[in-house]
Amino acid sequence: MRRMFSDIAPRYDFITRAFSYGMDHRWKRAGVARATLPPAPVILDLAAGTGDFSKLVAQQYPGARAIAVDLTERMLRLAKQTGVNLAACADAGALPFADGCFDCVFVGYGLRNFPDLRRALREIERVTRAGGLLVTLDFFLPANRIFRALYLGYLYAQGGFWGLLLHGRPRTYTYIADSLRSFVSIDQLSALLRQNGYRHVNASRYILGGIGLHWAAKES
Ligand SMILES: C[S@@+](CC[C@H](N)C(=O)[O-])C[C@H]1O[C@@H](n2cnc3c(N)ncnc32)[C@H](O)[C@@H]1O
Repeated sequence: MRRMFSDIAPRYDFITRAFSYGMDHRWKRAGVARATLPPAPVILDLAAGTGDFSKLVAQQYPGARAIAVDLTERMLRLAKQTGVNLAACADAGALPFADGCFDCVFVGYGLRNFPDLRRALREIERVTRAGGLLVTLDFFLPANRIFRALYLGYLYAQGGFWGLLLHGRPRTYTYIADSLRSFVSIDQLSALLRQNGYRHVNASRYILGGIGLHWAAKES
């Protein structure tokens, strides 16, 4: 996993925009808008990649302290080169932070990639202050069977095309479609968040449920 993300890091931003036809930034901005944060919030951008959530929060909240955490050092180097100030290399399953130190944790396309989702959710909950927030954006399998088949076909075709063009390997980006097959649904993730100490769990669906944005508050 780390090696794959290291290989694709220089193309990551381009490919994210290409896959989403430029809608990715709009979804992330919606995620930041869903989080009502205190002035100068302390936020964790987990599985940050090149740090989109860190940068959006810094733009919207002057004085915010955003730390980008990722398993892949090459992603974090790119994050720093493009305006992220604080970055740390760490595993979502063992976060090197004290209990309750963040006002909000943002996770963009991260949960699906964690080998142990429940463990990562426990860690996220642990480092969030009471009443603090979690915002997570990810790919999901649409509930409608016909659209699901079309969506998977689209992801495999797009992944194969860009993988071949940019890396000479069609399978480079088909991991997105592969990873969806074993990931939870939007409703299952909402239920998991409730089981893991969150209340006011909400979800927005984009492209007929192919993308889900969850936001929730940790119990006070
Ligand atoms: C698809 S990228 C998402 C990047 C960014 N958050 C975004 O929204 O565009 C997934 C990121 O998760 C990171 N990642 C995968 N497993 C991880 C783990 N166990 N702990 C921390 N980061 C992880 C990868 O290195 C990669 O940068």
